[in-house]
Amino acid sequence: MFTIKTLNKIDERGLALFDRRYEINGEGEEDAILVRSAKMHDYVMPKSLLAIGRAGAGVNNIPVDQCAEKGVVVFNTPGANANAVKELVIAGILLSSRNIVGGIQWAQTLKGQEDVAKQVESGKGAFTGPEIEGKVLGVIGLGAIGVLVANAAASLGMEVYGYDPFISVDAAWGLSRAVHKAPSMEEVLAKADYVTVHVPLMEGTRKMINKESLGSMKDGVRILNFSRDALVDDEAMEEATASGKVSYYVTDFPNEKTIGMQNVIAIPHLGASTPESEVNCAIMAAQELKNYLEHGSIKNS
Ligand code: MLT
Repeated sequence: MFTIKTLNKIDERGLALFDRRYEINGEGEEDAILVRSAKMHDYVMPKSLLAIGRAGAGVNNIPVDQCAEKGVVVFNTPGANANAVKELVIAGILLSSRNIVGGIQWAQTLKGQEDVAKQVESGKGAFTGPEIEGKVLGVIGLGAIGVLVANAAASLGMEVYGYDPFISVDAAWGLSRAVHKAPSMEEVLAKADYVTVHVPLMEGTRKMINKESLGSMKDGVRILNFSRDALVDDEAMEEATASGKVSYYVTDFPNEKTIGMQNVIAIPHLGASTPESEVNCAIMAAQELKNYLEHGSIKNS
């Protein structure tokens, strides 16, 4: 008999609060934990702990080094929320192209039918934006999400260039035939009208969108970040949105800096927030944990 704590109660500091109702045998300390967004860095691991499962892709909320030292397996649920993120990235591409947010805000300022009749032509002119068909999308990172985004964008008529810092050009092309082979990130950035990043946050990827990489992009590029906040250097981005180098920055990570930027669309980490993806992640995490506890095998550690 194992004790598993599932949790998603978070206190006001974002720290994990456990709900002991979910213990299976009610005895001793937990053998495993399943978690979504709660920050686990202050969690004191009991000796009994064998595994922490993350119902999601990133494992930044889990102290992976400490787990490795203690022999605690950490696993995630890659791909389980990929469709949800893909759909929102495509929405972000369209939002940033057609000035939809500005248009909505403008329409909300209208007062009554007379105002609508008078103003609508000027609104129409003010929020014109380009179509995406034929435009180049650069996809940095061709994991489960990047590949789905690439395929969906190609089906909307975009020309897609993909690059993955961790796999070869041929392997990337094998994952998505919609993607033109690009030997380097520089080549993708130089061609792209839109750049979307889908890599994990690691030392090598932290602030990968920075002054230098922004400088190598086309003027007026649109950038999307639905992966991790720290992949983008906010100061460099602030400068680039203010100067018009970046015409829109769409981010799933509102923070002190991004909420004040010009030409930013910031939403509250909604990428994976669909009922379907929550169920998919929960099922995958539970299955992984069951396999590990029963058979010692793990796929996604
Ligand atoms: C993930 O890591 O899977 C995503 O950031 C989604 C989330 O945790 O809400």
